[in-house]
Amino acid sequence: MPAQSLGVYFYDGQHSDEAQYLGLRLAEPFLAPGAIVVVDDTNWPAPRRAAERWIRDHDLAVVEDIRTDDFRTSPFWNGLIVCRWKEDNRDSSMITADQCPVPLLQYPREFAALLDLYRALEPRTVLEIGSLFGGTLWHWLRLAPQAALILNIDTLVSIQDPRYAPQKAGHDGLWAKWASGFGVTLKTFGGYSNDPAILAKVRVALTERSRVDCSRRGSDNMQPCLDFLFLDGDHSYQAVKFDYIHYGSLVRPGGLIALHDILDRPTSQVARLWREIVQSGAKTREFIESPDQPEMGIGVVFV
Ligand SMILES: C[S@@+](CC[C@H](N)C(=O)[O-])C[C@H]1O[C@@H](n2cnc3c(N)ncnc32)[C@H](O)[C@@H]1O
Repeated sequence: MPAQSLGVYFYDGQHSDEAQYLGLRLAEPFLAPGAIVVVDDTNWPAPRRAAERWIRDHDLAVVEDIRTDDFRTSPFWNGLIVCRWKEDNRDSSMITADQCPVPLLQYPREFAALLDLYRALEPRTVLEIGSLFGGTLWHWLRLAPQAALILNIDTLVSIQDPRYAPQKAGHDGLWAKWASGFGVTLKTFGGYSNDPAILAKVRVALTERSRVDCSRRGSDNMQPCLDFLFLDGDHSYQAVKFDYIHYGSLVRPGGLIALHDILDRPTSQVARLWREIVQSGAKTREFIESPDQPEMGIGVVFV
C-alpha cells in the first residue's frame, strides 16, 4: 500500500494493550493527512487505554467517544473512539523530531524505531552519554514515565566551537527546565564518562534511586540499576568500550543498551565494538535507515 494513502482506518483486532497500541502505530505510515481512525471496543479497559495513549502520543483530535450501555442493543456495540490523524502528516517517524526544540543528530527512521522500544520499555532509570544540544535527551525526558530518573553525561565542546553556546545553554538550565515540564528528574554530569569520578557519581545516583524504590516496594535489592542506556559520546574504540563495559553492567536484565554510529566510518570506531558485541552472541538488533548510507546506524543490545 502506498504511504499516506489511507483515508479511514478501523481497528478491531486483538484487544490486548500491546496489540491494540501496535495496531495503531503500524498504520501510521499509511494514514493520509487528516485520515479518520476508528477504534472499536473502547468500553473495555485495554482498548481504551491503548487508544488514549496513542492519541496522547500524537496530540490528536477526538471526534467522537461513544460509550454504550449494552453491547447487544446499541448500534455501536461495545464503545467506539473516532479521531482525526494530523493534517501535516509527514513520515510518522518525524513527528517527535519535528517538535524537538533543538537539533537532533539522528536519522529519523532509525531513531523512531529506537523510540518505539524505549516507549514499550517504560524506563524508570535512563542514562545518556553524549548529549550535545540535547536532541536525543529531550526525547528520553519527554517519553519517560512520570517520576523517572534521567541521567546524562556530556562534556562541553571547546569554547571556539560554534556549537558551544547552544550546548552550554543545555548544561546551564534548559535541559532541567524541560525535565520539570515533563515531570521527570534530570541529573546532568558535565565531564568525561571515562572519568572514574563521574562513574562513581552515576552509581551513587542510581543506588539512591534503588534505595527509594526498595523502600516503596518492601524489597532489599539496593543495587544501582538502569533500564535504558544510550551511548553517543566518545566514538573511539577504547572509550566506547569503557562506557559499554562499565555503564552497561548497570543495566538490569530486560533492559536495553543502544549504541549510536555502529556503521564503519573514519571518525567512529563504534563499529569495531559493535562487531564484537554481535559475535559474542548477545541478543541484538540493528536499525539502519538505508543499506548504502555512509554513517550513523543504531545497534540495540537486549540485556
Ligand atoms: C554526537 S554528539 C551527541 C548527539 C546527541 N546524542 C544527538 O543525537 O542529538 C556527542 C556529544 O558527546 C560529547 N562527548 C564526547 N565524548 C564524551 C565523553 N567521553 N563523555 C561525555 N560526553 C562526551 C561531545 O562533547 C558531544 O556533546
